[in-house]
Amino acid sequence: MNLLEEIQQLLQRIKSEIEVVQSADALEQFRLVHLVKKGTVQELVDKMREVPKEQKPLVGKELNVLKSFAESAFAEKKEQFSSSSGTTTTTIDITLPGKKPSKGSLHPVMKTMDHCIEIFKEMGFTVAQGPEVESDYFNFEALNFPADHPARDMQDTFFIKDKMGTLLRTHTTPVQIRIMQEQKPPIRSIMPGRVYRNEALDATHLAEFHQIDGIYIDKGVTFADLKGTMFAFAQRMFGATEVRFRTSFFPFTEPSAEIDMKRIKKNGEVSWMEICGCGMVHPNVLRNCGLDPEVYSGFAFGFGVERITMLTSELPDIRALYENDVRVLEQF
Ligand code: DAH
Repeated sequence: MNLLEEIQQLLQRIKSEIEVVQSADALEQFRLVHLVKKGTVQELVDKMREVPKEQKPLVGKELNVLKSFAESAFAEKKEQFSSSSGTTTTTIDITLPGKKPSKGSLHPVMKTMDHCIEIFKEMGFTVAQGPEVESDYFNFEALNFPADHPARDMQDTFFIKDKMGTLLRTHTTPVQIRIMQEQKPPIRSIMPGRVYRNEALDATHLAEFHQIDGIYIDKGVTFADLKGTMFAFAQRMFGATEVRFRTSFFPFTEPSAEIDMKRIKKNGEVSWMEICGCGMVHPNVLRNCGLDPEVYSGFAFGFGVERITMLTSELPDIRALYENDVRVLEQF
């Protein structure tokens, strides 16, 4: 038998053998017989040496066909076994309970804010906003804080460097001025937003927090309107049954008051909690906004949203609201 016939014979053998290979073991057996250094294919390649020169190109070509067939047939089967073994070994236990995807939600402070806004909207208040970088004029002066007046120390202020008379607003009350200068009474607005104070952080103080201010300006607005409105809010927001007004001081209201709400803690203890500052808009403030205090009067109020969130949830440390520990946040 000449070498060309031997090549043909081996090619046929390899074709029929590879066809019946059904496992990785059988494939390895195939490789050991045909594709290793001492295998059948190499054995024929080695015989090239004895082939007469003029036949070498033809025999060489046939040997190449044989070799590449054997190698690619082997590679193809190998691929087949590795991918099919992947699907058979990864078993999914469909009887296991599924993993519940965790759903995002609004931050507790935003929930409190939205709830407050909703209640005031139902009472006919519109929502207004103003800038967080504010001028001394709107934040203090127009609100009847005279320059160098000690009342300015009630609110430690962050000033904007190199911008005289510019600061981060310390309360949302300056938006009252902006509204009263822009609109004609009757004005009934709330002003939610972020405020900043140069405070040392502790369990009840943050340097950045949220407030909601409100005003109602018209002819003949009285302290009784203030009481009625704030009681209605406390009832809707907290289910309060009793509120009390304590005299207080703010430069922009006269008289001024703080509102406490009676509440029963989860442990049954009865206490009063302060929920809000308020008062009748000071005549100087009305004048600063071009309103005649002999014609118009109004009430104003303002409160901290984080504080309200803490009080209603009995959260002991205000900082916990912003540590973003999901175990805390998901309790709201
Ligand atoms: N701006 C005050 C503060 O930050 C809160 C406040 C009190 C606002 C009385 C008012 C008000 O509008 O009438 O402490």
